[in-house]
Amino acid sequence: MRHLLEIDDLTVDELRHVLSLAQADEPPQVLAGKGMALVFEKPSLRTRNSMEMAVFQLGGHPVYIQGSEVGLDTRESVEDVTNTLAGFHAAIGARVFEHSKVERMAAVDRVPVVNLLSDAAHPMQALADVLTIIEEFGSVEGRTIAYVGDSNNVTRSLGLAVGMLGGVMRIASPVDYCFGEDDLARLRATGGEVHTMVDPYEAVDGADVVYSDVFTSMGQEAESALRLEVFADYCVDGRLMHASGGAVFLHCLPAHRGEEVTDEVVDSPASRVWKLAENRMHAARGYLAFALGES
Ligand code: CP
Ligand code: NVA
Repeated sequence: MRHLLEIDDLTVDELRHVLSLAQADEPPQVLAGKGMALVFEKPSLRTRNSMEMAVFQLGGHPVYIQGSEVGLDTRESVEDVTNTLAGFHAAIGARVFEHSKVERMAAVDRVPVVNLLSDAAHPMQALADVLTIIEEFGSVEGRTIAYVGDSNNVTRSLGLAVGMLGGVMRIASPVDYCFGEDDLARLRATGGEVHTMVDPYEAVDGADVVYSDVFTSMGQEAESALRLEVFADYCVDGRLMHASGGAVFLHCLPAHRGEEVTDEVVDSPASRVWKLAENRMHAARGYLAFALGES
């Protein structure tokens, strides 16, 4: 039983295998006649659509379920929902507020569980991130990825994936929004090089990729005014991109244009954001092909 709660639930060899399956021409029909439940406690554009299309391409039937409808831990427990869905579906994907909810689903251990974003991790995004970097540069190894902004779920999964594939990760965040020692130890356990700093200009200098995400993640809306002030110097604009000396720009999206990134960057020739968004589907298909039986 394979669960994917964070990207380092895969070995490096498995991660490489998933990425090669993502690039394969003929999707194996591992979900023929089967379903996948997709439970969302938070909104989604890319994750829902990429997962639904990936399931379809693998011969299966996706069922989208709003968290408010099933009421995880309010209408019935996470475990009871999981046991019920496992009777209908070959796999369960879930986007949740607390990471512990996907851990509890995985602990039921009836069908594979895929984390579709929690407060701690976004592994399906990280798969697409490294797939996009590989398509751009041929490999992640030796490439420098400069993440600018809040050290969050996206940063954590991206940093792990980059480290597993031999890349260099630089993370520029305000002092109170940096990773602590536990996170840095986990990132370094991949064998990858990780550098943290407060100055975004130091982070992007000579980088191959500049990566950005929102300052206020879903669930943190009460802090958004404060975060706008704290992160004022972390907007990826034309000047910062120019300082990189030729990096490409990635963003998991949705972008809050004018906050963490300017229009001129999202819409510039250096931007690969639409490619990255499309790669969510290819990465999802590669992962499900791996987890549901294609060897
Ligand atoms: N990047 C991402 O996960 O987008 P959605 O929130 O729209 O799914
Ligand atoms: N860090 C963001 C990512 C959205 C895809 C959030 O959790 O809202």
